[in-house]
Amino acid sequence: MAAEQSRITIFDTTLRDGEQSPGCSMNRQEKLRLAHQLDRLGVDVIEAGFPIASEGDFEGVKSIASVVRRPIIAGLARASGSDIECAWEALKDAARPRIHVFLATSDIHLQYKLRITRDQCLAQARDAIRLAKSLCEDVEFSPEDATRTDPDFLCRVLDAVVAAGATTLNIPDTVGYTVPAEFSDLITSIRQRVKGIENVTISAHCHNDLGMAVANALAAVSAGARQVECTINGIGERAGNASLEEIVMAMRTRPDRYPYETGVVSEQIFAASQMLSEITGVTVQPNKAIIGRNAFAHEAGIHQDGMLKNPLTYEIMTPKSVGVPDSKLVLGKHSGRHALGIRCEQLGYQFDRRALDDIYRRFVRLADKIKHVEDHHLLELIRDTHKPSGSATPLIESVASAKASAASTPAPPEPLKPFPPAPLPASFGLPPVPADPNHEQTQQEDYLWGV
Ligand code: KIV
Ligand code: ZN
Repeated sequence: MAAEQSRITIFDTTLRDGEQSPGCSMNRQEKLRLAHQLDRLGVDVIEAGFPIASEGDFEGVKSIASVVRRPIIAGLARASGSDIECAWEALKDAARPRIHVFLATSDIHLQYKLRITRDQCLAQARDAIRLAKSLCEDVEFSPEDATRTDPDFLCRVLDAVVAAGATTLNIPDTVGYTVPAEFSDLITSIRQRVKGIENVTISAHCHNDLGMAVANALAAVSAGARQVECTINGIGERAGNASLEEIVMAMRTRPDRYPYETGVVSEQIFAASQMLSEITGVTVQPNKAIIGRNAFAHEAGIHQDGMLKNPLTYEIMTPKSVGVPDSKLVLGKHSGRHALGIRCEQLGYQFDRRALDDIYRRFVRLADKIKHVEDHHLLELIRDTHKPSGSATPLIESVASAKASAASTPAPPEPLKPFPPAPLPASFGLPPVPADPNHEQTQQEDYLWGV
């Protein structure tokens, strides 16, 4: 019998930590729209905002709490009475409310930011959790800057908040300082040392300052954390938070290493990413894993040739599995004849080998100059390359006439297509690889052509 996979709680903080990043603030309606998409995406917890921060944030949390009923709705609060009461006021209509209380525990934060002693910190954390618990059953505590906190003191604070009623202990790498092995050790030691830990959920909250947020979050899960806090597109303070789509797809793609389940409907990932970019106006980098414009685009000839033969050659997950419409073969100077020939066919032209060779030479020269060869460039190039001349045999054949001549049926000569020849298809998707009678013979040649 297959081993049961552990369920990981996906805590989405796009609307709170994500929203705190420059250029990403959202108004109430925008937050509500995104919250509905997060619900469709299947996240378990939506951190809807920081109610005391502003009236708009309070209203945003309140509206989400009253209309988005399936996921847990969390609101953030500092470890103070007024913050906690305000968060509860915003959350109380939720079907499943959670108060998330945080207090810094590292000496550097205690000394310079909060100006309190360790003992004061411990008492403040415990009292805050007691108050939150008196209002709400589901209470999360975060020792801010946990990864730079003295581990003995961290465990004392965690002991106290568990005793006071916290149900989730979130361990934030607030400044993105930790590394996977170290974070894994920290989670392991918390599991071994904190009293009552078996009755609470351990969570990881990682920032990306050293580009390791996702790796750290996954290391925490492997060490026993059962909740991860993350954001769509990895938005968040400074270099961002751990990206939801990367964590979820790492687990889906590598169950051999990460045998965990989430409730995320991965086909909704792209829609969530697009909606967030549309609302904030902040686009993602083209090479961003999973949802970047180039994440499923192939330009190198060898890659395109492999993709056309079998997408498994260069794709470890399908675009469809994350809701991306299709893989794209981008025509640039690295493209090969295989992809060029397919594109020409999609535009309504089928060439014999010699003709394609001719087009290909010109295509490479053009791609060298303009980087990406779009359909209209290609059509122009086809037209220029094969201008009809009195003596020359027309090299352009329509698909219909090529098929007709292959079947040795005399067909009336087809005139050259006028420019533009056919309505342009909306996307450059991957067509099925056609059965080729000379397949074996041309395979090696195609490979070389692809270079
Ligand atoms: O990064 C952080 O420490 C936070 C806490 C409020 C959880 O966002
Ligand atoms: Zn954070």
